[in-house]
Amino acid sequence: MILYFSGTGNSLAVARQLAEQLNERLMPLIEATGMDLTDEQRIGLVFPTYDFNLPPALPELISKLNISPRSYVFTVVTCGSMAGNCIWVLRRILREKGIGLAYSHKVSVPDNSALAFGRNPNNQLKKFERVPARMNEIIRELQAESHTLHYSWFSLLSWLLGRPAIEKGMIHCLGPKVNPDKCIGCNTCVRVCPMENISLVESRKTKDRPSDSKSAPLAQTGDNCTVCLACVHACPQQAFITNGHQTLKERQYRNPDIKLKDLIKR
Ligand SMILES: Cc1cc2nc3c(=O)[nH]c(=O)nc-3n(C[C@H](O)[C@H](O)[C@H](O)COP(=O)(O)O)c2cc1C
Repeated sequence: MILYFSGTGNSLAVARQLAEQLNERLMPLIEATGMDLTDEQRIGLVFPTYDFNLPPALPELISKLNISPRSYVFTVVTCGSMAGNCIWVLRRILREKGIGLAYSHKVSVPDNSALAFGRNPNNQLKKFERVPARMNEIIRELQAESHTLHYSWFSLLSWLLGRPAIEKGMIHCLGPKVNPDKCIGCNTCVRVCPMENISLVESRKTKDRPSDSKSAPLAQTGDNCTVCLACVHACPQQAFITNGHQTLKERQYRNPDIKLKDLIKR
């Protein structure tokens, strides 16, 4: 079983390839939390790096997984370039559940947070040239049930960046905010948010939409954002603001092998 978390499809593309090559089932990690996975001989966890750590929502979700200590548990993390403490932290979370992490590796792909810093993730597509070789290496090692922890070391700087106060600051700065003048209430963000953290509310035209003559549904974010930026990248109106940056269409990113419906189908 391959369990994944993905905002813009990089981790889903990796997870999907692993599932195909290893002949395993593929499932969003969030759906697997209430399930009995103790009969699974092999469990793979695939997710992105945020701030050199796990996405903020993942430690709790992973600690709720019902996995057998006898399973071969592995992880492949995706990142722009540096996975930081991701694998080290995951190993600790699993160890607390009595589960050993048998194998880990990382895959470097375009950094989907670049647009929050005024840069364009689509300028990083060259990184995909090195992905097939890395995936071949990973699949070969997983087929051999290798016990190798690549990139599992501890970094003090990454640990400091993962402290709750700093993590809260990251969510506060990068956490998407809706521009009511641009949102048309199309529901795309609601459907693509893996955390089910966005809903549509009736907007009040005078306060929320000064420039709109009619009242219409408006997207509203809740308190459960894990900053995956799925909504920012998928919004057809570029109606989200992250880190003070209005989204530009040319900076919106989705992994080239993943369709919007693949991210919605959860
Ligand atoms: C909030 C946030 C923080 C990120 N932090 C890092 C980081 O510390 N190191 C890194 O190499 N990439 C970082 N990235 C880039 C993602 O890890 C990378 O683009 C990942 O493949 C996205 O996966 P997805 O498409 O499955 O959502 C960050 C992305 C986001 C949204």
